[in-house]
Amino acid sequence: MSAPPVEFKYADESEVRAAQLMGAEMANIFGSVHGGQVMHLVDNIAYVCAARYAGTACVTAAVDRIDFHEPIHVGELLHIVARITYVGRTSMEVEIQLYAEDIPTGNMRHTNTCHFTMVALRDGRPAPVPRLVCRTREDRIRYLQARMRREMGLRYRTERDRFLKQVETMDDAALDALITRETPAP
Ligand SMILES: CC(C)(COP(=O)(O)OP(=O)(O)OC[C@H]1O[C@@H](n2cnc3c(N)ncnc32)[C@H](O)[C@@H]1OP(=O)(O)O)[C@@H](O)C(=O)NCCC(=O)NCCS
Repeated sequence: MSAPPVEFKYADESEVRAAQLMGAEMANIFGSVHGGQVMHLVDNIAYVCAARYAGTACVTAAVDRIDFHEPIHVGELLHIVARITYVGRTSMEVEIQLYAEDIPTGNMRHTNTCHFTMVALRDGRPAPVPRLVCRTREDRIRYLQARMRREMGLRYRTERDRFLKQVETMDDAALDALITRETPAP
């Protein structure tokens, strides 16, 4: 496996910023911005942040979660701030913060935080990425939080797959008992 183009990069130099006016064509039936539009935008910025960091093309492997705490309104300017928070061997976590600006007043609302796992590819295969160096306290905190998300994500996927396989092999009586919670989940 080839080595990454550079040995390490600084977390604080990985930041990518973009802003997009929320147009009427982005509205959902309630008149606020459609969640899918926001997901499309953040996936694009996650790609830019990861590919620039890795120095090669990347794919989205997973999205930790996207919580929509507050609606984003048509007419607002959406600020998107992305940075690399953690790297494994070939994967990177990109943290994205979203802020909606009411343009006339300049009032800013923090609307979302989300985390993407992106994987660097060379010749179509996962490829090593530069080591991440955290030289600020904030970056060290983000790194530890991201590592915890990665470890929990691995545990979650293992446990989920085990349960899904097991439930498919259970007989009807065992399924009914589980549904009525007469037996604990396997
Ligand atoms: C992501 C992908 C390249 C991983 O390929 P793979 O053969 O499973 O590769 P590996 O098992 O070597 O994993 C590579 C890295 O991805 C990580 N990874 C793979 N699947 C993951 C998942 N579901 N969640 C988080 N990380 C994941 C691994 O932990 C590993 O990280 P590390 O090298 O930092 O330790 C492959 O699954 C793929 O191409 N998926 C489709 C991607 C895509 O099309 N995205 C757009 C969807 S719209």
